[in-house]
Amino acid sequence: MRTQVAIVGAGPAGMFLAHLLHAAGLDCVVLERRDRAFVEGRVRAGVLEPITVDLMRELGLAEGLERGGLAHDGVNIATGGELLRIDLASLVGVGLTVYGQQEVMRDLFDGAVARGIHIVWEADDVVLEGLDGAEPFVTWRHGQTGHRLDCDFVAGCDGFHGVSRSSIPAQDLRTYERVYPFGWLGILADVPPCNDELVYANHERGFALASMRSETRSRYYVQVALDEQVDDWPDERFWDELCLRLGPQTAAKLTRGPSFEKSIAPLRSFVAEPMRWGRLFLAGDAAHIVPPTGAKGMNLAVSDVIMLADGLIEHYRANKDHGLETYSKRALARVWKAERFSWWLTSITHRFPDADPFSQQMQLAELDYLRSSEAAQRSFAENYVGLPMARPGRRAKASAAAPEGAVRGTSQSIGKKLERTCAGAAPGEGKAT
Ligand code: FAD
Ligand code: PHB
Repeated sequence: MRTQVAIVGAGPAGMFLAHLLHAAGLDCVVLERRDRAFVEGRVRAGVLEPITVDLMRELGLAEGLERGGLAHDGVNIATGGELLRIDLASLVGVGLTVYGQQEVMRDLFDGAVARGIHIVWEADDVVLEGLDGAEPFVTWRHGQTGHRLDCDFVAGCDGFHGVSRSSIPAQDLRTYERVYPFGWLGILADVPPCNDELVYANHERGFALASMRSETRSRYYVQVALDEQVDDWPDERFWDELCLRLGPQTAAKLTRGPSFEKSIAPLRSFVAEPMRWGRLFLAGDAAHIVPPTGAKGMNLAVSDVIMLADGLIEHYRANKDHGLETYSKRALARVWKAERFSWWLTSITHRFPDADPFSQQMQLAELDYLRSSEAAQRSFAENYVGLPMARPGRRAKASAAAPEGAVRGTSQSIGKKLERTCAGAAPGEGKAT
């Protein structure tokens, strides 16, 4: 079998890339280790930046999003018994959209089936070969049968534990890592959300987050120690702890109910440089991990593959490689800023077991500054909704504040809040910044 781009991994990075290439008339094959139900069933991200929403619209995959996405103009931080609301829309002109990664994956897979994008499910023992030459190829096994895919390029979109990053010789890769001394215990429950916007809570007993998937489905998290197990947390214990940490004002509106998903995720910051080695390009979690506090992981995967697709399209259409040659540098410039924001937000909202009195005072000072300074809130908002992304060769769509060639998402008008957030505007015509 032969294709132009072999994509390893059918998570958000791999599938958004496949759609972008397919829309440009390029040929690709996606190789995924698991089956569709497994990938679609993984409960993960819930917050989409305007860049992600705009891409789903651009690709004609936003029907579910327009129906079920929730537009959020603001976000809240609960600290010292008070709720600080950061008004994203008034500070930076855009907000965020709550729409689960599971739904995003369903829309990407439905679209792939309808468009004839080739996905090989349950591809075992994927091996990348010839990456430093002009004729790379990928081999895998399906059952007892071996397969080979020849290609021009390989996109390594196979997540943190995938095979792509480890196919780069160790001496050519530099990695940076911080492992945090806690994890997030998350649940899903079919109860109405306790607040119509997200609440991030810094409490002396630890961090908590109130999020949602819809008007009837809530997603909640509490910080737990690394040695804790899901079985240590029966629902009643989880609800009691969550209520304490969110504080009385938010807890008063909280509805309890049976959880139907409960899992613990460790928190990590990680970056591998460069994101290109020969004919292999890394994208998404294969190259970098952020702690989920900033809600950046899936959105970073999206910005990576937008840049990568631009470079590949330029290669085939214009026979130029500037985009591919600068991909790693441009992607990493954005990645490091998202790493910084996710690390910072984690550091001011969590309880660190080894924190000395000085670090605790620093945390309080950070939160107090955020509460008292509009400039600090604007900086928070700019990072939280996603920094503008440079796309050379593309006409800038928006933003007085954005640099030349940068595109700031314009999405505001999703789902139930359409009338409130941008009265009179049609979907896609939300407030431009
Ligand atoms: P993945 O989603 O990991 O996909 C990689 C794919 O490659 C998988 O399907 C895997 O099965 C496949 N694969 C792996 N190895 C191989 C192999 N050898 N061969 C073939 N296929 C392989 N992000 C946000 O933007 N917003 C949020 O609100 C948010 N919240 C989060 C909350 C939690 C609790 C967690 C854990 C994550 C959260 N994230 C969030 C992060 C987000 O889920 C990830 O960053 C995102 O899934 C990365 O996409 P990806 O395609 O790069 O990698
Ligand atoms: C989620 O809804 O799962 C979610 C929201 C915000 C985050 C992380 C996860 O920062």
